[in-house]
Amino acid sequence: MKSKVIRDRFLKFFKDKNHSIIQSSNLIPVDDPTVLLTTAGVQQIMPFFSGLKEPPSKRLVSCQKCFRTTDIDNVGLTPKHLTFFEMLGNFSVGDYFKKKAIYWAWEFLTEELKIDSNKLWVTVFEGDEEISADDEAIAMWKEVGVSPDKIYKFGKADNFWGPPGEKGPCGPCSEIHFDRGEQYGCQKDKCGPNCEQCDRFIEVWNLVFTQYNFNGKKYDLLPQKNIDTGMGLERLIAIMQNVESVFDTDLYNEIIKEIERLSNKKFGISSDLDRSFRITADHLKGATFLISDGVFPSNEGRGYVLRRIIRRAITNGKSLGIYDEFITSVSDVVINTMKTIYPELKKNREYILDILETEEKKFSNTLKQGIGILEDNIKHLKKEKKSVIPGEVAFKLYDTYGFPIDLTKDIAKKHNLNIDLKAFSTYLEQQKQRARSVRGFLIETKKL
Ligand code: ALA
Repeated sequence: MKSKVIRDRFLKFFKDKNHSIIQSSNLIPVDDPTVLLTTAGVQQIMPFFSGLKEPPSKRLVSCQKCFRTTDIDNVGLTPKHLTFFEMLGNFSVGDYFKKKAIYWAWEFLTEELKIDSNKLWVTVFEGDEEISADDEAIAMWKEVGVSPDKIYKFGKADNFWGPPGEKGPCGPCSEIHFDRGEQYGCQKDKCGPNCEQCDRFIEVWNLVFTQYNFNGKKYDLLPQKNIDTGMGLERLIAIMQNVESVFDTDLYNEIIKEIERLSNKKFGISSDLDRSFRITADHLKGATFLISDGVFPSNEGRGYVLRRIIRRAITNGKSLGIYDEFITSVSDVVINTMKTIYPELKKNREYILDILETEEKKFSNTLKQGIGILEDNIKHLKKEKKSVIPGEVAFKLYDTYGFPIDLTKDIAKKHNLNIDLKAFSTYLEQQKQRARSVRGFLIETKKL
């Protein structure tokens, strides 16, 4: 089943249950200065939940463009993490609540998409001193047919969602996880949903029972009970297409093929190379959408996030052996594969490619300077018959020239040299501490 069919089936399933389809909002959140980027479908629904705005209908459904900066470092390391992704979600603004949300989610996955129900496990909120355990959800999951040993309980970190900013609607949640099979497991006794040791279980759908407002200190009941759900489209497609990772779905096939063409390397052969393939694909897809939605590369805020992912994509491209400028060709493939769903990409094509080209040129100059410095150092070391690049040099390249340590390692390896990684980590830790103290200062200043 192609991604387009799955996306459409979701929207139609809920449309047939009297939901109005709403368009994805921009990746730059509207009316919420506390959030950097749109991270969930519910963000544009929040004013309806709080009663600040009248919804067009009490039942809504969407496929929302999202970007999560928190996952930047996970991309490439797992089969499921992305920065940019599409979130499928159905919402109830004071209309139906927990029971319908649970029954319909189950019906969609097991009857509409015919996913084997034995492979679905669920998690529920276990309760704490502020909010009681969600025994209701447990009873409902049992009613739809989930066996009790596949129902796991977790605390606020896993089973309580929101608010995305500092304040706002939030509530306990219940997640549906897909079991990819024991062969992907860590075989530990405790292995189950949210296992930190392996990727056997993939969280697919989060159902949030949004009945509280967090005012920064405490949770007050909202005047009405709401439903907010979010399902990662790419993860669902990976399950439906029965492939290893989100990068093996039809949403990424063309992008990966283009990176294969540019690098003259194959995806799916070495885990090191795959990591770079995945990072390059994810980051350039994200950058394409961010630019299209009005984010401009810079050294702060959203612009910094954009600059960072563009630079990571370029250096990962270098690790794959792509030494020429290349990011616009990959972005063009992103535009071509996604433009029927997001027509703004077609409209903004020239602009997106222009920004990327300028940014790549700028970064290439910085990289060239860095490579020059590294090569001078290497010459010097060789003359002195030394075989270790000092941590200080690797750190300077990282800090001043944006050289990821992996790139320095690659170059060092070509010259049969090692890097003093211990010293590098010490410099890095010192830098982090400096950053933390600056952040602390900023928070304090904000309070004043
Ligand atoms: N808003 C919820 C989430 O992002 C559904 O997981």
